[in-house]
Amino acid sequence: MSDFEFDLVIIGAGPGGYEAAFDAAASGMRTAVIEKDKVGGTCLNRGCIPTKAIMHSSDIYRDANAGAAFGVDVTGLSADLDRIIARKNQVVETLQNGILSRFKKDKITLLQGTAQVKDGHTVAFSPNEDGEESRDVTAKYIMVATGSHPFVPPIPGVDLPGVMTSDDLLDISGPVPEEMVIIGGGVIGIEFATVFFDLGTKITIIEALDGLIPTMDKELGRSLKMNLKKKGIDVHTGAAVTSFTKDGDKIAVAYKEKEKDFVVPADVVLVSTGRRSTTAGVFSDDFLASHPDFLTQRGQIVVDQNYQTAEPGIYAIGDAIGGIMLAHTATAEGRNAVAAMNGKKGDIRMEPVPSVIYTSPEIAQVGLTQDEAKEKGIKVKTRKFPMSANGKTVIEDLDRGYIKLVSSEEDDTLLGAQLMCGRASDIIAELAVAIGNGLKVADVANVIHPHPSFVEAVMDTARL
Ligand code: NAI
Repeated sequence: MSDFEFDLVIIGAGPGGYEAAFDAAASGMRTAVIEKDKVGGTCLNRGCIPTKAIMHSSDIYRDANAGAAFGVDVTGLSADLDRIIARKNQVVETLQNGILSRFKKDKITLLQGTAQVKDGHTVAFSPNEDGEESRDVTAKYIMVATGSHPFVPPIPGVDLPGVMTSDDLLDISGPVPEEMVIIGGGVIGIEFATVFFDLGTKITIIEALDGLIPTMDKELGRSLKMNLKKKGIDVHTGAAVTSFTKDGDKIAVAYKEKEKDFVVPADVVLVSTGRRSTTAGVFSDDFLASHPDFLTQRGQIVVDQNYQTAEPGIYAIGDAIGGIMLAHTATAEGRNAVAAMNGKKGDIRMEPVPSVIYTSPEIAQVGLTQDEAKEKGIKVKTRKFPMSANGKTVIEDLDRGYIKLVSSEEDDTLLGAQLMCGRASDIIAELAVAIGNGLKVADVANVIHPHPSFVEAVMDTARL
């Protein structure tokens, strides 16, 4: 084998691609990863990790500000956005180095440059390094894990300086903005609203649909809206942004709500209106011409249940195939795709998928909601426990929250859970394991949970 022949070449070093590379190398496949940017993908460079690193700083600032209520007086408190961003960069770098050293240890070849698929076993590779020549990389299998990018709707003025996507906002410098308008009350919008509100920015959220976080249970969206409004965040649902215009040092954001026109000023506008699969330029024109329907109209790669495309040597996973665009889903898909290449059935269950929104208190859900069960014609029972009756919640003085369990009316098998509470991001895993293994509500109710804890509220809910 020459240096440019592999068993598997993976395009994209995000959590889908790099974790698949670890599995492939462990299975004895000679593996290469092609990445044009830093390793880690959206998750590590522009998503999960940097947002949570910044949020850890804003949480500390918020809690310190609230210290007096807990008998801790803090004076001279200030938040330095440049240092917060610098620390976030350090966190990202530490984790990037972890991936790079694992590549080295597992003898995975990292090729830094741009890839374009030519056929079922050949990728054209153009190195980033000046002066290095482009060449073909061949492999028995190709895995496309090129991720996604922010979708920006064509609103007039969207190109003005100060109108940003989450990519730009993660590298913002200077003083904490005074006023921020967030377009889109989905996951990204809510997480950035939490961060900047806690740092002292006045926040307005403008969401086109009737409720916030429309991908989650409606009741979570309603409770979240109530919590945000109570804190002092201005939330407008069922509202359409019509334009952005420069107004002195500010941006004037015009929107329509209930047939009336309004304008709100902003120093920064975040456009968080969804993401699209990144597949433009990933396949040569000749390849796409000979493979009609390889991509959907939205540019997502079409795959079967093993993540294999219409071209048998090529697999695709993660945000590039659409569906649930979450880091942990991409990782699971990549692992199962590598298993399929090795002629095995992947061990990872693709359902249920837990999802989390990092706000305060955290929001998480897994499995079916009451509405989804109804749509599927499944009769369900629900149990709901208010977190105001949970000791840890009172100790930490967290905002309104609850745990809701959805189970089958027939035999009380646990089908879904929706949480708004402290540590929901961790607690949801217990419920994912229970649902994934077909446990009944009593199986959760009858196991001793630690006290005092947030998670004991799961047991309390199950005992209702
Ligand atoms: P999203 O799909 O969650 O929310 C976008 C929101 O924008 C929707 O509520 C939509 O109705 C609204 N919208 C669309 N066009 C609009 C317009 N012109 N005016 C006003 N509102 C408009 O997408 P988001 O928040 O951009 O997140 C993208 C992806 O990243 C999602 O798949 C999400 O799951 C993932 N993500 C996951 C995180 C996590 O797991 N904690 C964190 C951040 C992102």
